[in-house]
Amino acid sequence: MTDVYWLEQTDANVPAGNDWLSSSEVARLTSLRFAKRRGDWLLGRWTAKRALAVCLNVPDDLQSLAGIEVRQATSGAPEAFLAEQPAGASISLSHCSGRAICAVAFAPAVLGCDLEKIEERSDVFVADYFTAEEQALVARSPESERALVLALLWSGKESALKALNTGLRLDTRSVVVSCRDFSFDQDGWEALQVCYADDQVFHGWWQRAGDFVHTIVSVPPPNTPVQSQSRGNCANRVPVRIEDAPCPGVLVAGLR
Ligand SMILES: CC(C)(COP(=O)(O)OP(=O)(O)OC[C@H]1O[C@@H](n2cnc3c(N)ncnc32)[C@H](O)[C@@H]1OP(=O)(O)O)[C@@H](O)C(=O)NCCC(=O)NCCS
Repeated sequence: MTDVYWLEQTDANVPAGNDWLSSSEVARLTSLRFAKRRGDWLLGRWTAKRALAVCLNVPDDLQSLAGIEVRQATSGAPEAFLAEQPAGASISLSHCSGRAICAVAFAPAVLGCDLEKIEERSDVFVADYFTAEEQALVARSPESERALVLALLWSGKESALKALNTGLRLDTRSVVVSCRDFSFDQDGWEALQVCYADDQVFHGWWQRAGDFVHTIVSVPPPNTPVQSQSRGNCANRVPVRIEDAPCPGVLVAGLR
């Protein structure tokens, strides 16, 4: 089991200047051709740096944030560095419609997180990207919840595909999302699982946040009895919102 921390930010939180970026990040930003991509990239970096600052006990001023770098691996996955060294933290991020979420855990955890807008999706979309099992789940859902269920399933898939480091290079039907209970009326995190290739299960969480769904999955130690026990424990152990962490520096020191 690993502790997972998360933070959400919006475009409005991102400072106007680039003082909080490292010089290589400024170069990367300049290389991005499209304004929308630059905006998404900046929001993702800002969210990740603020999340990492709390977890790594780095001051939250712009100059200190410039010392945290979120680099891009060849796969496209984000990697956290502090003062040019690997930060010892796994991160995952997602941006959508002016919002971004970042999840942080400490090595050797593998993470995926995703943010998805709840909106109508066509039957063709469902037929093309979801398994028969997931399509049956959608068909069983109340019509009023169809968009939420689809956003949740899609987001769970993207989180798992990020944890696998592949993204959409893999068929979306190779990862199958299931939830014990949709609890549509409740706020807060609910457990979900994503199965991959018949023998790998990602445990995670989902929650509705207004018109959006958040999902976070991480890879637990592959010990079946512990996993079974962990699943039970996991249901009561929600990701800690970073702004709520009581004393993050101490928490991190204990984890290392
Ligand atoms: C990962 C992916 C599924 C996310 O798609 P999305 O829903 O459009 O975007 P999200 O906002 O939810 O997530 C984007 C973030 O996922 C992360 N990401 C990208 N590829 C990733 C991968 N292979 N593994 C884990 N995370 C990845 C990045 O941090 C990215 O944000 P950034 O580029 O600003 O750093 C999609 O980008 C993808 O399939 N990428 C792989 C294929 C590809 O074209 N890669 C380009 C190689 S550089």
